[in-house]
Amino acid sequence: MAEELLIAQSSKKEKYTTLLPQAQALCTGEPNLIANLANVASALKMTFDFFWVGFYLVEKEELVLGPFQGPIACTRIAYGKGVCGSSWKQNETLVVPDVEAFPGHIACSGESKSEIVVPIRKNGQVIAILDVDSNQLNDFDEIDATYLNELCGWLGTHCF
Ligand code: SME
Repeated sequence: MAEELLIAQSSKKEKYTTLLPQAQALCTGEPNLIANLANVASALKMTFDFFWVGFYLVEKEELVLGPFQGPIACTRIAYGKGVCGSSWKQNETLVVPDVEAFPGHIACSGESKSEIVVPIRKNGQVIAILDVDSNQLNDFDEIDATYLNELCGWLGTHCF
């Protein structure tokens, strides 16, 4: 396991390409899901200083809060509700440039302004989601979607 997280000081793309192998190394050989998701949430928070980053885990008809970094958050989100529940239902990544403009957005914090939610799949089924919030409008783009999809693809097949 890495003892210290290396954080690229250049472009967003380079930050992701430096982070992803380290996140995978942190989880490799560790069978405990909560420990792995906790470290991945921390690595994302440390690399990008996101306002909120964390996981919700599918439990029956709801998402239940999992490991995260940031202010306290809603514990349960119903299927199809909010950005997280919509990403689960639609089985796709959602980039929301302005949370106020997203119908049904669940405001865990008034400081959250934009958001990206990425499904984590195992055998094609959504089993969890990664939610990242920013306190800036329009903070997420195709680069975030590409690398967070890659990360979540890896987590779904290796950690769950
Ligand atoms: N905004 C999310 C709820 C989760 S919090 O942002 C941590 C949503 O609308 O699903």
